[in-house]
Amino acid sequence: MNELLRRLLFLPPQASTISSSVDHLHYVVILTTIASAIGLSLLSLYWIVRYRRRESDDIEPPAESAPTTSLWVELGIAGLLFALFFAWWIVGFGQYLRMRVAPANTYDVYVTAKQWMWKFAYPEGAHSIAQLYVPAGRPIRLVMSSRDVIHSFYVPDFRLKQDVLPGRYTTLWFEAPTPGKHEILCAEYCGTNHSTMRAEVVVLSPEDFGRWLAGRGGDPTTAAPPDGDPAVVTSVGPGKPMSLERVGEQVAAQVGCLRCHTLDGTPHIGPTWAGVYGTQVPLADGTHVLADGEYLTESMMDPMVHIRAGFQPVMPSYLGRLQPAETAAIVELIKSLRDVQAPSPGVVPPSQQGLAPPGVTVMPRMQGDVRVGPNGPEVPQP
Ligand code: CUA
Repeated sequence: MNELLRRLLFLPPQASTISSSVDHLHYVVILTTIASAIGLSLLSLYWIVRYRRRESDDIEPPAESAPTTSLWVELGIAGLLFALFFAWWIVGFGQYLRMRVAPANTYDVYVTAKQWMWKFAYPEGAHSIAQLYVPAGRPIRLVMSSRDVIHSFYVPDFRLKQDVLPGRYTTLWFEAPTPGKHEILCAEYCGTNHSTMRAEVVVLSPEDFGRWLAGRGGDPTTAAPPDGDPAVVTSVGPGKPMSLERVGEQVAAQVGCLRCHTLDGTPHIGPTWAGVYGTQVPLADGTHVLADGEYLTESMMDPMVHIRAGFQPVMPSYLGRLQPAETAAIVELIKSLRDVQAPSPGVVPPSQQGLAPPGVTVMPRMQGDVRVGPNGPEVPQP
C-alpha cells in the first residue's frame, strides 16, 4: 500500500528513518482531501438534479413546516472536522519534534554552503566537496553555515530541508539505514548557478566509512574527491587529515587569535581559552552567559554583543574573515581546552613568550595577522 501510493504520488524513495512517517501523514491528508472532493462533487450533482428548474405546475407547494437539519447534526459535523484538524496537528507536531531534536549520540559533520557548492568537514579532519560520506545506521548531525548568501540543504529521499545562513549555524539530523546514494539540492534561490548547486549523500556501511575516513578512499565506488580540490579549510595545506582541534590551533595562530588569547589559562588582552567551555562566563553588564558553541561563534562574528567582564571591547569581528569550518575548528579547540587549569603565577607560559605586551605596535608577520596598537588589536581590512 505504501509503495503503491508512493509511486502514484511520484514521491522519491524513502531512505531515512523518518521518510516513511512523513509520507504516511501525506497519504492521510491527500486521501482525506480526495475523498472529500469526490463526496462534495457527488452531492452537488445530486442537488443539481434534485433542485433543477421545473414547469410551474410541477413545483410542490412548500410544506407548512419545512424540515430543517438538526442543530446537533451541524454541531457534530463541525466537531468532527475540528477533531480531524486537531489530530493532524498532533501527529504532525510529534513528527516535527522527532525530525528536529537530534539523538544524543550523533556523528557530527560540518557543512559549508557557498555559491555554488557544498563542502563537508568531518571531526577526524577529513573533508569532501559535493559528496557527503556518512555511515549507515548511525544518527548524523549536520552543523551548517554559509559563506555568502542563504542556501537551503535539501535531500528529497530523506524528506529533509533546512535553510543554511551566513554568520549563523543551523542543524539537521538524519539516519540512513542502508548504504546508497541520495541527491542533495539547494532549495533557496542563491544566484546564477543555483540550479547547479547539487551534491550527493553517499551512505556507506560502517566498515566502508571507517576505511574511507582512514584513507580518504580506497574503494573505487566511493572515490574520494581528487587531491588538489580546494579543501574546506583552505588555509590549511593539503596533507594528512587533521582533527578539527588541530586545525583550530593552526587557524587560531594564522588569523591572530593567539596574540590576545592564551591556551593555558594565563590572562592576556583577551580572556584565556582554557577551562572556559561549558562554564558561565561573567559579562560586563553583570549578567552571565553559558560558553557554548553558539556563544563562542557569536563572540567571533559579533564580539560587541556580549562583552566579557574585566576586558576591553577591542575584539574585532571575524565575520567574513573566518570560514564556517574554521570557526567550527576554533570552537572544537576551545572545547578541547575545557579541563585545562591556569598555571601558578610567575611562570611565563610558552604561548606568551615572544609576544609583545599590550600597547606595543607589532608589525604584521603575515597577511591577516592582528596588529596590536595603542587601542588594542586591529585587523587589517583586505
Ligand atoms: Cu545555493 Cu540555491
